[in-house]
Amino acid sequence: MKTIIANWKSNPNSVKDAVILAKSTEKAALKYPQAEVVVAPPFLYLTEAKKELKYAKLGAQDSFWNEGGAYTGEVNLAQLKTAGVSFVIIGHSERRRYLGESDEVINRKVSASLRYGLQVVLCVGNQERSEDPMRVISSQLAQDLKGLAPGDKVENLTVAYEPIWAIGTGDAESPDGAANVAARIKEQLTRYWKIGSPRVLYGGSVDDKNIAKFLEKEEIDGVLVGGASLKAAEFGRMIKETNSKS
Ligand code: PGA
Repeated sequence: MKTIIANWKSNPNSVKDAVILAKSTEKAALKYPQAEVVVAPPFLYLTEAKKELKYAKLGAQDSFWNEGGAYTGEVNLAQLKTAGVSFVIIGHSERRRYLGESDEVINRKVSASLRYGLQVVLCVGNQERSEDPMRVISSQLAQDLKGLAPGDKVENLTVAYEPIWAIGTGDAESPDGAANVAARIKEQLTRYWKIGSPRVLYGGSVDDKNIAKFLEKEEIDGVLVGGASLKAAEFGRMIKETNSKS
């Protein structure tokens, strides 16, 4: 089964539009059941989106590392579970960049979310196209997954390779390049964290034109989609493609 995750980021700006988008995504998820479809709306819309999603799964775009207390502004793990969240995206480059999220903070969030029983999607990636992606990614993996052992439900971890230069630019990584990096990430997940069947997604300017080329790659288990996930008809076609490649 291949996975397609809709990362709505800080969109849309009304509950009404969020419900419309959730409904159309659910419709496609139901029609194409071989694809694993995950919708990650802003926290504010989780509850309303959940009402629409029966076949598609609910994701959050971030998590906090405990179950509540005096942490102003944070949404905790127990709250996410109550809202029906089963997936959580952690370490997105926009959070690293605009919120100053450090690898240490990301490590706390990944560890706590896995132990809490959530599926974690950890985002990693290099800034510049000219850099060797694995130089950056190896260091991110070592820090973000520090201290995790097989007893910590590491099998519920998925890594998303998201080169920053490709995010929101319309200039996606090549499918061969993405497959190569995915294979190298998997090697590390198996070697250092003893994950038997590691899963790696690609994200960065995936759309209905190029999605098939990524999903055709055996090393790529799915895609993380930003901009195109907000366009109902296009995202429906992408779910269909994910279904046919699953
Ligand atoms: P994009 O975003 O599809 O708009 O490039 C992907 C992401 O940031 O996850």
